[in-house]
Amino acid sequence: VRASALLSGYVRFDKLKAEQRESWDSVPWERLARRIAGLHDDLVRRLNPQPGERWLDVATGTGGVALRAARAGVHVTGLDLAPGMIETARRLAAESGLSVRFDVGDAERLPYEDARFDVVSSALGVEEPPDHVAVAHEFARVCRLGGRLGLAHWRPDPEWEEVREPFQPVRDANADIGTDWGREEYAANLLGSAFELEFSEGEVRLTGESGEAIWRFSTSPAGPLKEFVDSMDRNRREQFHRAYVEYYERYRTESGVSVPKKYMIILGRRV
Ligand SMILES: C[S@@+](CC[C@H](N)C(=O)[O-])C[C@H]1O[C@@H](n2cnc3c(N)ncnc32)[C@H](O)[C@@H]1O
Repeated sequence: VRASALLSGYVRFDKLKAEQRESWDSVPWERLARRIAGLHDDLVRRLNPQPGERWLDVATGTGGVALRAARAGVHVTGLDLAPGMIETARRLAAESGLSVRFDVGDAERLPYEDARFDVVSSALGVEEPPDHVAVAHEFARVCRLGGRLGLAHWRPDPEWEEVREPFQPVRDANADIGTDWGREEYAANLLGSAFELEFSEGEVRLTGESGEAIWRFSTSPAGPLKEFVDSMDRNRREQFHRAYVEYYERYRTESGVSVPKKYMIILGRRV
């Protein structure tokens, strides 16, 4: 039953995945990832890397987590849906003299054998794959008994959702809702039978000179926000621009704006 359900899922989401792959391919994530370096540091520290361990970082992007783990002497594999991300991650690893294996692939069907890894991680990586049961199943499958899981995900942020929601394009009604992962009971439901779980919280601050400066940084030259904005007509784009800047300006300090973003860390031990 599971196999046929997964199979139908693959077919159902082929188009969505192709769009996601294409949109992430052109994102200069390397530059955006620097803004969440604190989250990457935190996740890797909490997973307590040990030299010689085999570590998989899923939806690795430009390798923020993978490269940090590699620095600790771990044998790291990073996987991402977007070939452009993997290309940048390989370049960054080479520039740092780190040896990391990077593969293009899908979190919902990992190209690795059962129990292959001591550690499985993903930072902000479970939001997009549309089949959450498949993702959770794959994490459990490739993690050895006694191995560790570490996920970082944004906490639900009602204030930001209120800004964004009116502009949200129509979503695929069959796809699971990415932000749901930010709720403990939802994540526990997906992962709790394979992992002993522990939840904690952290915070990064998104800072800039002004709301307008953050808007410019986030919409040029490309990025997830630009993609979102480009899907709107001129009128709506202007409305969203105003709402976005107004939201950031609510967090004005003496030296610019500084918006707290809370994230959840899920740590698991494979049982
Ligand atoms: C918000 S970025 C996070 C990247 C990285 N983990 C980090 O923290 O810097 C989300 C990443 O998920 C990847 N992604 C989206 N859907 C995926 C899927 N089904 N399988 C694997 N990666 C996926 C995107 O290509 C993108 O690199």
